[in-house]
Amino acid sequence: MIYQENTQAIYRKDYQQPDFFIDSVDLHFSLDEDVTLVHSRMTIRPRTENQKKPLILNGELLVLKSLKFNGHVLNATQYHVDKTHLTLPNVPAEAFELESIVEIKPQENTALTGLYQSSGNYCTQCEAEGFRRITYFLDRPDVMARYTTTIVADKSRYPVLLSNGNRVEYGELNDGRHWVKWADPFPKPSYLFALVAGNLYCHGGKFTTRSGREVRLEIWVEPQNHDQCEHALQSLQKAMRWDEERFGLEYDLDIYMIVAVGDFNMGAMENKGLNVFNAKFVLCRPDTATDDDYEGIEAVIAHEYFHNWTGNRVTCRDWFQLTLKEGLTVFRDQQFTEDMTSAAVKRIQDVRILRSAQFAEDQSPMAHPIRPESYIEMNNFYTVTVYNKGAEVIRLYQTLLGKDGFRRGMDLYFQRHDGQAVTCDDFRAAMADANQVDLTQFERWYDQAGTPVVEASGVYDATAKTYALTLRQQVPEHLQAWHIPVAVGLLGKEGQDLSLQLEETAPAKTTQVLELRELEQTFTFKNISELPIPSLLRHFSAPIKLNFSCQRQELAFLMAHDSDPFNRWEAGQQFAQQVIFDLLADWQAGKTLQLDALFSEAVLKILQDDKLDGSIKSLMLTLPTENFLGQQQAEVAVDGLFAVRQFVLKQLAEVHYAEWLAIYRANHQMPYSNSATAIACRRLKNTALHYICRLDTPETVNLAEKQFKQSDNMTDQQSALMCLVNTFSEERGQAIEYFYQQWRHNPLVLDKWFSVQATSYLPDTFDNVKALLQHQDFTLKNPNRARSLIAVFSQNQAQFHRADGLAYQLHADIVLQLNATNPQIASRFVSVFNHWRRFDANRQALMQAQLNRIIQHPNLSKDVYEVVSKSLN
Ligand code: ARG
Ligand code: ZN
Repeated sequence: MIYQENTQAIYRKDYQQPDFFIDSVDLHFSLDEDVTLVHSRMTIRPRTENQKKPLILNGELLVLKSLKFNGHVLNATQYHVDKTHLTLPNVPAEAFELESIVEIKPQENTALTGLYQSSGNYCTQCEAEGFRRITYFLDRPDVMARYTTTIVADKSRYPVLLSNGNRVEYGELNDGRHWVKWADPFPKPSYLFALVAGNLYCHGGKFTTRSGREVRLEIWVEPQNHDQCEHALQSLQKAMRWDEERFGLEYDLDIYMIVAVGDFNMGAMENKGLNVFNAKFVLCRPDTATDDDYEGIEAVIAHEYFHNWTGNRVTCRDWFQLTLKEGLTVFRDQQFTEDMTSAAVKRIQDVRILRSAQFAEDQSPMAHPIRPESYIEMNNFYTVTVYNKGAEVIRLYQTLLGKDGFRRGMDLYFQRHDGQAVTCDDFRAAMADANQVDLTQFERWYDQAGTPVVEASGVYDATAKTYALTLRQQVPEHLQAWHIPVAVGLLGKEGQDLSLQLEETAPAKTTQVLELRELEQTFTFKNISELPIPSLLRHFSAPIKLNFSCQRQELAFLMAHDSDPFNRWEAGQQFAQQVIFDLLADWQAGKTLQLDALFSEAVLKILQDDKLDGSIKSLMLTLPTENFLGQQQAEVAVDGLFAVRQFVLKQLAEVHYAEWLAIYRANHQMPYSNSATAIACRRLKNTALHYICRLDTPETVNLAEKQFKQSDNMTDQQSALMCLVNTFSEERGQAIEYFYQQWRHNPLVLDKWFSVQATSYLPDTFDNVKALLQHQDFTLKNPNRARSLIAVFSQNQAQFHRADGLAYQLHADIVLQLNATNPQIASRFVSVFNHWRRFDANRQALMQAQLNRIIQHPNLSKDVYEVVSKSLN
């Protein structure tokens, strides 16, 4: 093993309380192009009296310039410094003050963790363990301190100096520099520290809390983006109001700031009072951002705002508890979006992400419970499992306890733990105690990895008028049964909901939530006077795979009638999947393909259903992705799935051409607005355009081209470009060039230009991606740009998984480049190879060869090492 960095795993079971606490820290930053000086003065207190423990502070990439203990300079024999720690072997058993000065070089920080530069401005990202790259500290979430921060910088280049809390003092020096001092009254863990310095424009606003306090809101952006902030501001105001109404939670400082930066590894960061955001989740204008971008902004702004209570006021004891704040906060932002837009549409979108990304993670060597047992690099555990499955687990509490019961649990959680760093068990205890229920078995959701599989079967007894539903969970040998709420409805032959009664005394409902706790349970509904069609797992009531054998007629029936919109969509997806897999068998047997008439008819019914909301309709008219279909197979049939899915799309386009065109025309005239109705129209229209363009005739190309050139909004322009990019027309190249010239100076739109080309399903996509890597505007240094081409292409199943392995090789080259500059992004990218064992022998060998090449690389980061070593294991 050539590997050098410390690859020791850290275990949840080894958690120990800190030996010392830090009560206050006074920071002083002197920002300079050459070196930045960080001066820190901390008051430190041993946890227990008379303890004789060494003080071990975290610190990385720091150059220690001076160290003082209670005001006295320490000499080098009194402490020890290595690459990751500063150790003071002898410290007294009472409170003391430690003062240090370190040098750092933010201008050379390409990993974008700690203090770094983006577009010439300074900003920070400290979660999870970035603060130790700023100064020596007990960089762990259960050490909470009060911070004051003074920033000194050149006034002309860095007129704006921000940190957490309130601005308490400021002044000017006579050398052209100025300074600002901030004080944050709330004790916080180091991962919530933030600093921003630069030339920024402020889009201001305000919010009056329900108790009548006025809060100043500030969105800070690079000056050229001044006209792209209003939606972010409004989203923040909506989120603040919603959290008061739904959870009784009010904001606690007098100012709330959001800064948009161009270079950011993730989505955004909830630093106390000073969120730092990936610009992608702040900036928008109708002509530059799509409807999905608008919704993404509203959701992420809300997410970070909600963290102020779920994350900041109550934080995590240790990083294994990450889902305590992330699962809960994702759930809260999902509920918020369900309330702001459409509950059904949002639920479908969330389940699509869960199933395509999280279920896949569960099937991979990186599978872990939402509360992991160990990690090598914490940044590798900001995953869809911790976040999205974590949110599903929180949703389970609400499904089991009801909205009011859930609220009681939340209230008790805050009552008990405000100002503390706590665990997932504390949260579960609050839910249980507030509702006087036993949630012992519920812990399995936290400590067992994997997606539960439930088999369902039903028996109708016409004489007894009962319907008996048996649910059986398949529990792997080393695991125990989960506590699973299964929401069930039964449909009569007119498609109506039957009234469901379990016990004589219990109230009848049209949807019953069954609690499956045993390996197998049977639930018997009474007074069922006709043979029902079951609608199971309504609203996706648990993150499981439910197997229930359903005839195509039944799927078509549910698709047309189910009162639960989620299950209506779900029936369509299952129907499509059955159709595709049957065709795949034909394709593999060399037979000619023919589209199932019943399916085609079911699609037509959806097309003609005037009562369906356009957003749902458009989702119902979208086939499961190749990636998702591949996951349902023992071995991913890359080429077959591609061919068959393309066939179905083209057939649907041809057979229903008149309807697609009619839908297109009916929805195309609507003038632009950001309303739900206008968004639904655009979604439906653009879905229609995609089908229409499958025909690739001069007329269809013309339609797309017209929309491309004439649209006044990015949703329509990008959709049309996506259509054109998949045609063999001359207009394709022209549109690509036109879009580039139009948007080359807007980085976020230029990202779309790279992405759209990387999603093309034409066979020259790999060559285009390779050429785009050389484009003057391409750079791996900017995570958004890197993702726009590389990550997007790696999800293009048929093109990325070319049988010749050339795309794998290129991908590994890029991973190795990023490994040296930005390990977090490298590790994200290398993760596509996690699924290598699910492919055919040829592709397996090709991917394995790249993984072996990567693991042998001499200077592998912990991040990449952890993923690749687990993948090869
Ligand atoms: N807490 C942030 C959020 O949920 C995520 C930041 C994670 N960053 C990281 N480098 N691991 O929005
Ligand atoms: Zn979060």
